[in-house]
Amino acid sequence: MTGRLAGKVAIVTGAASGIGAASVDLFRSEGATVIGADLQGADVACDAGDEAQVRDLVERTVAGHGGLDIMFANAGISGGIDGLFDQDAADWAEILRVNLIGPFLAIKYGAPAMKARGGGSIVATASVAGLRSGAGGPAYSASKAGVINLVKVAATQLAGSNIRVNAICPGLIETGMTDFIYARARERGQESQIGRLNPLKRGGEPAEIAAAALFLASAEASYVNGQAIVVDGGLSASHPFNHQSYGRTST
Ligand SMILES: NC(=O)c1ccc[n+]([C@@H]2O[C@H](COP(=O)([O-])OP(=O)(O)OC[C@H]3O[C@@H](n4cnc5c(N)ncnc54)[C@H](O)[C@@H]3O)[C@@H](O)[C@H]2O)c1
Repeated sequence: MTGRLAGKVAIVTGAASGIGAASVDLFRSEGATVIGADLQGADVACDAGDEAQVRDLVERTVAGHGGLDIMFANAGISGGIDGLFDQDAADWAEILRVNLIGPFLAIKYGAPAMKARGGGSIVATASVAGLRSGAGGPAYSASKAGVINLVKVAATQLAGSNIRVNAICPGLIETGMTDFIYARARERGQESQIGRLNPLKRGGEPAEIAAAALFLASAEASYVNGQAIVVDGGLSASHPFNHQSYGRTST
């Protein structure tokens, strides 16, 4: 098999939908053996925020495929868009469990398996919501900020192992998580407004995030470590500003 991931064994969580499903397809097309994991609807049923289930997922992958080279900790939940004062501790606990403890478990159990292979790549899906306010609910945003920090800590703690740990911060991508935004805009005939806040003036596709995950997973990113790569059409490149006061902004 040829391809950028030829001979590699990968786990992708949140594989049944959106970014995870697109990544499974892309990784396979690049030669990897991929175990897609999700609550349901993927190769393997696994709750990405449950320690015993993640440990078991890694153990079964190593037993069945001889090792592990790539872990894409991508599963996530939005938890809705209630404001800070409308969420309670139980809401926060569940969002943090899946979105932040999930990637922690992926690293905790994925990295030892990769060490046995002499290295590997761990990629976690964070979000532009983890950079600043305004792109998700409060607990979601905090969980994604945690993921950005987690990959830095993990990359450092894995020094000397040849295991790289990076995050991707997607902007608005059309997936199961954002269905309601797209559906509402279409209902109102406002689809062209989607993504208008970024310089590319459109929403992103799952394949555009999968492409970033492929880069980070592959040897092409062999010197990229401990980073959070933003893939958002340029949304986070600017502070909010008034186009009229700043003159020409487009050709
Ligand atoms: N869509 C966006 O605009 C956007 C933007 C930034 C970040 N993200 C992140 O991208 C990642 C993928 O989400 P998506 O946009 O593809 O949404 P999605 O809802 O289409 O896919 C998420 C998948 O994760 C699975 N999942 C949820 N909880 C799980 C658990 N406990 N264990 C295993 N699987 C679980 C779901 O069943 C689903 O299949 C998430 O981490 C999300 O926070 C999405």
